[in-house]
Amino acid sequence: MLTLKSCINIDDLGRLAAWKVPFPVNDYVEGGADDEVTLRRNREGFGDYQIVPQGLQDVSQISTHTRIMGCDSALPFYISATGFSGMMCPKEAELAGVRAAAKFAVPYTASTFSNRSLEEISQASAGDKLFQVYVLDDEKLAAELNQRARQAGFKGMVLTIDTIVGGNRERDARSGLTIPPKLTMKSVMQYMLRPWWLIGYLQSDGASMGNFPHMPKVSLKDSQAFVIAMSKLFKKDLTWSDAEDMIQKWGGPFAVKGIMSASDAVRACQAGASTIILSNHGGRQLDGVPSPIELVEEVRAAVGPDVEIIVDGGIRRGTDVFKALALGANSCSLGRAYVRGLSAGGQAGVEKALSILKAEFERCMILAGCSSIDQIGPEHIRRIR
Ligand SMILES: Cc1cc2nc3c(=O)[nH]c(=O)nc-3n(C[C@H](O)[C@H](O)[C@H](O)COP(=O)(O)O)c2cc1C
Repeated sequence: MLTLKSCINIDDLGRLAAWKVPFPVNDYVEGGADDEVTLRRNREGFGDYQIVPQGLQDVSQISTHTRIMGCDSALPFYISATGFSGMMCPKEAELAGVRAAAKFAVPYTASTFSNRSLEEISQASAGDKLFQVYVLDDEKLAAELNQRARQAGFKGMVLTIDTIVGGNRERDARSGLTIPPKLTMKSVMQYMLRPWWLIGYLQSDGASMGNFPHMPKVSLKDSQAFVIAMSKLFKKDLTWSDAEDMIQKWGGPFAVKGIMSASDAVRACQAGASTIILSNHGGRQLDGVPSPIELVEEVRAAVGPDVEIIVDGGIRRGTDVFKALALGANSCSLGRAYVRGLSAGGQAGVEKALSILKAEFERCMILAGCSSIDQIGPEHIRRIR
């Protein structure tokens, strides 16, 4: 039987996660939009590249230290924003990830749609944190949230631009998942198959909207009701001039997440962003778009050497991180690799995920002949397709 201890890679953690959480929750995590072409492509894209080791370098000492959005990071990867962590781990929710990230000295990103409030997340660890913001139509609420993020000590802001409306996630429509999970005749049967999860869920306030304490509870009549309710919250006439405004008001490290072309990367830089996050939301939004890994070279060429580029999507191996860096990225962020750990074992599971990727990345650096992050370059990679 698979246990946290016996998991040796991120896919093992995914298999364990599937045993730990009800299947609609697991499908919510693992699924993508429409035909899931982009979801698959995000992984397949890495297979188009080979690592080219440079032999006989002195790799007796290696350093994996780097900087991510103005934060010192012990590794060139960190935890991306994922909402509603209380669904995957009712007991610990976001606190599991932020504590694990601090132990590994990598940044943690809190989502606007966290179950725990950004103040609670901030207080849970002394590690560096970023705040991911969805731009809300209610300007007062949006300004309040930014102010709270600043006061709570978040180091950088991440503006997600690919979620103006929810993606068409057909697995959720089929499973009947509601967010937060609701106990109905049908769902209770599914949840009873995962009794430990159910007990944790009933004992927690996993259904709370941590950052919106005054928001009336969303009425969830069916699986799409939540997506529609949330979509109504978003500002749909958002433009680059709004982004420019936000960047100026924040005044610190600022990333635009959801960039899928060189032209948008250039626009984000012109608006004043310090960081470009190449991302298609893990294939959960618009199906049929490019995968982040295949964009790195052209985006690096378009924005020049000084802009920070983060690859977000499909990272499951230390070698994936190495390939992204060799192509010109500065670091990578983890979505499902982290959530699988969270579902599989809360904080201990997230630590397991980070330790697996750390060991894989370090081994890759040594075998490829690199002793520091800045030594990883184009000579270490070739495209084969
Ligand atoms: C369960 C889940 C919830 C997510 N919630 C958010 C969110 O609240 N905000 C956001 O910007 N991205 C969100 N994302 C997208 C991730 O930040 C990230 O872009 C994506 O997961 C990367 O792809 P990967 O899962 O293949 O690593 C979510 C992803 C997952 C899997």
